[in-house]
Amino acid sequence: MVQTDNGKGGRSSLHGFWSSRLAFILAVTGSAVGLGNIWKFPYIAGQNGGGAFVLVYLLCVFGVGLPIMMSEVLLGRRGRRNPVASMALLGEEEGGTRSWSLIGLSGVVAGFLILSFYSVIAGWVFAYIFKSGAGDFAGADAEQVKTLVQSLEGSWLATGAWHTLFMGLTVFVVARGVERGLEVAVTLMVPALIVILVLLLGYSMTSGEFEMGVRFLFEPDFSKLSAGSVLAAMGQAFFTLSIGMGCVMAYGAYLPQETSIPATAFSVVCADTAIALLSGLVIFPIVFANGLDPTAGPELIFQALPLSFGNMPFGTFFGTLFFMLVGFAALTSAISLMEPAVAWAVESFSVTRARASVIIGLIIWVLGFLSVLSFNVLSDFTFWQGTFLDNLDYLTSNIMLPLGGLMITVFCGWVMCRNASVAELDVGAGNLYQAWRILTRFVAPLAVVLVFLNAIGLLDWLIALF
Ligand code: PHE
Repeated sequence: MVQTDNGKGGRSSLHGFWSSRLAFILAVTGSAVGLGNIWKFPYIAGQNGGGAFVLVYLLCVFGVGLPIMMSEVLLGRRGRRNPVASMALLGEEEGGTRSWSLIGLSGVVAGFLILSFYSVIAGWVFAYIFKSGAGDFAGADAEQVKTLVQSLEGSWLATGAWHTLFMGLTVFVVARGVERGLEVAVTLMVPALIVILVLLLGYSMTSGEFEMGVRFLFEPDFSKLSAGSVLAAMGQAFFTLSIGMGCVMAYGAYLPQETSIPATAFSVVCADTAIALLSGLVIFPIVFANGLDPTAGPELIFQALPLSFGNMPFGTFFGTLFFMLVGFAALTSAISLMEPAVAWAVESFSVTRARASVIIGLIIWVLGFLSVLSFNVLSDFTFWQGTFLDNLDYLTSNIMLPLGGLMITVFCGWVMCRNASVAELDVGAGNLYQAWRILTRFVAPLAVVLVFLNAIGLLDWLIALF
């Protein structure tokens, strides 16, 4: 399915190409759609007061995330190598320094850190496939679901075992290099996920506090919007779109020259946003109807969803199917989290793909135990943002990814010559190109800088100064 040469110009590649535009869209969609939409969006929205947060999140997705995603694909395709080497090469060609490879390197590190906790939560999803299949959700009430979550997170052995299983599966797929085959399965997964979410929406509309849920998500109350929430909304936009760490760049390196980057990025961003919003609409009516705490954090969906499945017709069947699909969505995201590191190792150290995947996977697996223990043995050991997991999540989503994104916009908008981006985006130099260019040169970098300044309290100070 993968060709080695597209014969369409552009730099010659060190590796194969996606067989079609669709294969690439599916790969990036598989990367973007995952726990970020189903698990993280509802819980972060819950912790940050809903409506106003969601509004900022949407602004960040379309105003900052979309242009950065296009920039990342553009850089990957122009460099045609792993993100570290692509950025070194382009940096040298366009800006005279190879130091831009730092973008790639920070992405490799971010991928390690993110996957280490991502795998732990994905492990819970896998545990829930079996719990649902065993009928554990049947007739559940609020107290029962809380016990259900506690019995899982309270045991480091159980959480650790599921984490091990998930990492094993990820390494297996990446090592065998069959991930391209999985993209075909995304064609089924994403629509199936949407169908079950719509089904769940039906349940939330009839049995939940639907109006309250809608109000919570879409009625902005700006008094609830702290500087920290704005940063969280921006971080979530980066996390959910898989941008700022070279993952989309790594995939862009396999993209044939003639594929339209703007159209591709736009469809991925829309699908991702739709799934996140749908997930929020499913969760909150159930949370409010059952007196659950919207600020419950990472446990939120693991409490709310069993209530829906446990009390709807054929809930055991749909619940099992749903968690299987989410598990699969998490797997396609996990694969993409490893891609920059694996591609980099293979291209730089002449190791085989299999060996690189196993070694990288092992390091991430060990690191993951910090997050496994965050819920039990080390749950009282908190610093800075909270537990180890909270800190890893905060550091990566709210700091590393936006910083990576900032550097990408600076490179694409200010360092790279205009002709290069005109040629890669291939939409002429008309309005669409201009819009991208303004967003990339001014809007996105400024937004990131302002949100950072705001978060550390310097923005107010600066405003007062003028
Ligand atoms: N976007 C993925 C999700 O929403 C997570 C991810 C982040 C994947 C960064 C790759 C890079 O689940």
